Amino acid sequence: MQVENQSESSVKPLEPKPKIPYVVGSKSPTAVAINSASKAGEWIKSRLGLIKEINTKCSPQDLVTDVDKGAELMIRKLILTHFPDHAILGEESVDPGAEASANALTEAKKEAEYLWIIDPIDGTTNFVQGYPFFCVSIALAYRGEVIIGVIYDPIRDEMFVAEKGKGAYVHGNPTQVSRDDKLADSVLAVGFNPDREVALPINMKGITALSDRTRSLRAAGSAALHLAYVAAGRLSGYYEVGLNAWDIAAGALLVKESGGIVTDTVGNPYDIGVRRLVATNGKIHQELLDVLKTAEATGV
Ligand code: IPD
Ligand code: CA
Ligand code: CA
Repeated sequence: MQVENQSESSVKPLEPKPKIPYVVGSKSPTAVAINSASKAGEWIKSRLGLIKEINTKCSPQDLVTDVDKGAELMIRKLILTHFPDHAILGEESVDPGAEASANALTEAKKEAEYLWIIDPIDGTTNFVQGYPFFCVSIALAYRGEVIIGVIYDPIRDEMFVAEKGKGAYVHGNPTQVSRDDKLADSVLAVGFNPDREVALPINMKGITALSDRTRSLRAAGSAALHLAYVAAGRLSGYYEVGLNAWDIAAGALLVKESGGIVTDTVGNPYDIGVRRLVATNGKIHQELLDVLKTAEATGV
């Protein structure tokens, strides 16, 4: 190697040693989402039956525990370690109620191009009861569009992962929506929404109408897992009015990347502001929308 002859004045002073960078490594956001969901999920599972604090939010049916809050904190820290410039919208950092969550979403969207949307425990009532159907839901949106969705069920150790344009997987196996092409042959999920004033009565109209038109209905108490099950073809659709961005974001991408359709209850395409949800295998979508319209169960 040739060494240039430098005059004394051109010799640069020694630069201070670089600090250890705050951003650790160059992990992909998908890897970070999977790792965060897995760590939080394991911790949540370890706290089953050991809840220290239970409080209610906007109704006596809307529960929150110390474990919901602890899990959100854990996920936030893990994400910010890798992506300190990203914004995060987590259920437990938002005031209860529809208006507060809509406002929080609008504010969060303004904050940064990349927005993580987190539900630390989806299915808190189940978690409190020891009913083994709850999950961690983590999504990443870029300029308002969900590009990564991860849902982890720690009880069954099932990790559902979707990347926009790259498909969806559970444990490395591609997920695919069901083939049912008639409502009458389909099993759908519905929800008994905790908003007893507005959302529940609307949902009840839909549930009554659908109970007569489908093979059967399930209301297992976790919006995100219902969506993951639609993606995996275990259910043919899911309908609920009164959801929040964190209930839906990851699951919506899973359904879409598995060949399904996600809209609001009148058929507008899904975006992260949607609160009245219809997600199906695509084949029964219109029939389901028609039933909801006739039953006046769209909430619009
Ligand atoms: C709830 C669950 C439930 C749905 C409610 C959600 P949480 O979320 O997804 O299935 O019916 O609308 O609020 O409170 O357990 O995170
Ligand atoms: Ca939820
Ligand atoms: Ca939750």
